[in-house]
Amino acid sequence: MSLTTSPITVTETGLELVLPGGKPAYFNHYWLRDNCPTSFDSQTRERVFDIFHLETPPRPRSAQIVGDALEIVWDGENHTSLHALDWLAAYATGQRRADPSDLARRAWYANHYADIARFSQADLKADKAKVAAWLKALIVEGVAIVTEMPDSDEGLTDLVKLMGHVRPTFFGEYFDVRTHIEPTNLAYTAKALELHTDTPAEEMAPGVQFLHCRANSVEGGANLFLDGVAVANDFRALHPEDFRLLSETDVPFYCEHDTYDVRSRQRVIELDEHGEVSGVTISQHMADVFDLPQHVLDSYYPAFCRFGRMLQSDKYLMRFRINAGECIVFDNHRIVHGREAYSATSGARYLRGTYADRGEMRSTYRALTGEGRFK
Ligand SMILES: [Fe+2]
Repeated sequence: MSLTTSPITVTETGLELVLPGGKPAYFNHYWLRDNCPTSFDSQTRERVFDIFHLETPPRPRSAQIVGDALEIVWDGENHTSLHALDWLAAYATGQRRADPSDLARRAWYANHYADIARFSQADLKADKAKVAAWLKALIVEGVAIVTEMPDSDEGLTDLVKLMGHVRPTFFGEYFDVRTHIEPTNLAYTAKALELHTDTPAEEMAPGVQFLHCRANSVEGGANLFLDGVAVANDFRALHPEDFRLLSETDVPFYCEHDTYDVRSRQRVIELDEHGEVSGVTISQHMADVFDLPQHVLDSYYPAFCRFGRMLQSDKYLMRFRINAGECIVFDNHRIVHGREAYSATSGARYLRGTYADRGEMRSTYRALTGEGRFK
C-alpha cells in the first residue's frame, strides 16, 4: 500500500478531502463512524453498530489516504475505519442511492390490449428471469396478464407468492366478483361498474391487484381498463392549474356498512418523489361528501369533473374481455378499471381477486435484478 500526501482537513464536524478525479468532498464525522464497514454484519446484512452508545461525539485522531481508501483512527475508542474512496464518492453530493426499481413509467392508451405483457404461470414458476420481466412490466406499464392459471383458489395464492404476500383489506384476504344475493358492493351485482381504483377508503389502499378469471361465459361484462398516468400526464399539459389542485388537495373517501366505517383522505392525482405522476385514486362509489371550504370547491369541482370526463375518453379506454384461466395483475394506484353491465342469466362470470403490496413487489424486483443478487 502506498501512502499519498493528499491533504485531509479535519474540522469540528467533519473532514474535507480530495476524491480521485480531483473532486473536493466533505463527510460528516458521525456519518463516517456510523457507516464504517464493520457496522454491518455480513451474515444478516443488518447494521449492528449502535451510534447512540458512543460516549462522546465521534472525532478522528488521525485520517489519511491509504491506497484507494480513507483510513480513520477514532479518538476515544479503539477503532479504525477503512472507507473505500469510490464508495465515499457515491455519497459525496447527497444524491439518493440508486434504485433498480426506479424505472420510468411508459404511458399506454386505448389500443394497448395486444401489447400487454403476458406470461404463463408455469413459466413464471420455473424461471426467475421471467418473474423479473413480469414485475418490470408492472412497474413500467402498470399491467400484465398471467395466462394458463389453474382453476383453483391455490392458483391465485401461488401467483401472489412469486411477488410477495397476500395483502388483506378490510373485507379479508380474497374477494369474489360475481353476483351476490345481498350485495354490499356494485362489483357483486351484474350492473355496470364505473371506472375506479379499489378501496381508496383505506389509509393505504392496496398497491397491486390480481383478478383471476375462473369463468366468463356471460353476454356483456366487457372489462374497461385505462392508464391513469397517461390521462394525468395529458391533463397536466392541458390544465396545469386543475392538475395542481388534484395533485395537492386531499379529499375524503369512505366505505361504510353495518360493521365497518372506513375513512381516509387521498389525492386524486398522485406524484412520486421526482414529481412525476405515479398514479390516481378515483372512486365515485367511495368518494365521501367533499368537506372542503365551499369556495375551494368552486375551483376543485370543475377541475375534478374535467379530469373525470377525460378518464372516460376513447383515447384512453381499453375495452376487452378477460378469459377464464387468465389473471390480470395491475397497479391499483395507477390503473383505473370498470366493467360494462352483463346478463347474469346468460352464463357464469366469476373473478376471484386479491392484492399484494407495491413496496414488496419492488423489493422482489430489486432482489432479482440488483447487482450481485441475481439468482
Ligand atoms: Fe375494482
